[in-house]
Amino acid sequence: MLHQLKNYIKHSIKSFHLHGIHSPFVFTLEKKCLRDKAVYEQYDVMRRFRESVKNNNTILHIEDYGAGSKIFKTDERRVSDILKYNSSDRKSAEMLFRLCNYFKVNNVLELGTSIGIATHAMALSGAHITTIEGSPEVQKFAQSQFEKFSLDKVKSVCSKFDEFLINQLGTTYDLIYIDGHHDGMATIDYFNACLKLSHKDTIFILDDIYWSRDMTDAWSQLCQHVNVTASIDLYDVGLLFLRKEQLKERFYIKL
Ligand SMILES: C[S@@+](CC[C@H](N)C(=O)[O-])C[C@H]1O[C@@H](n2cnc3c(N)ncnc32)[C@H](O)[C@@H]1O
Repeated sequence: MLHQLKNYIKHSIKSFHLHGIHSPFVFTLEKKCLRDKAVYEQYDVMRRFRESVKNNNTILHIEDYGAGSKIFKTDERRVSDILKYNSSDRKSAEMLFRLCNYFKVNNVLELGTSIGIATHAMALSGAHITTIEGSPEVQKFAQSQFEKFSLDKVKSVCSKFDEFLINQLGTTYDLIYIDGHHDGMATIDYFNACLKLSHKDTIFILDDIYWSRDMTDAWSQLCQHVNVTASIDLYDVGLLFLRKEQLKERFYIKL
């Protein structure tokens, strides 16, 4: 908690002092996508998807893959609680939709489906989504939601992240969203494994970069990674770009 508070203050100061953004790429992204206040019709569909699970008391068994939960002490969770504590909130889901839309991404890889809130948001952009979830009961539930909402471009896979990544060859993704197993070393390993599934314009999104000291260290290391040029710290999530046209630079934006 203290770690998050300290870093929230640091982030606010940095985003204020470094506000003059000199990169046209980041400037336009901030203006036309991150701060885009338009109300897309898809937001209403996203609201309905969220509503459909809000009062769902089904209990699902959760496999613990290491970093655990700061809130739950058992491995049984109500769907309504998963929505509240383990899923993208409305604003984050809307931003994921806008990012997919703005970059016109065609193929997305999501590590960490949970009950499919972010998957659904990204799929509404028209992109094909491959989403990975290691807890079988959670994956099954998400799959049924995708069917219920006719998301025929979503491929939902039940697998541990490392086992999925090791078997991937020949596919590349335009956007890779890493949102699960919030352990610093594991996150760096997933990023490195995902590099072979990327191309020069792939966008990486990392969730919960201030979840723990360990995740923040991993985020800092990835910003310095030899393949990464620009990074954008939005506090809740971090964006990493590989595009060579961009100088290596760290941006801080408070939304
Ligand atoms: C924070 S939730 C994902 C939230 C979702 N992306 C959203 O925005 O709504 C993370 C999910 O990743 C799964 N997970 C965590 N570590 C995993 C691993 N190593 N392999 C497979 N699944 C994992 C968890 O079971 C959990 O459902």
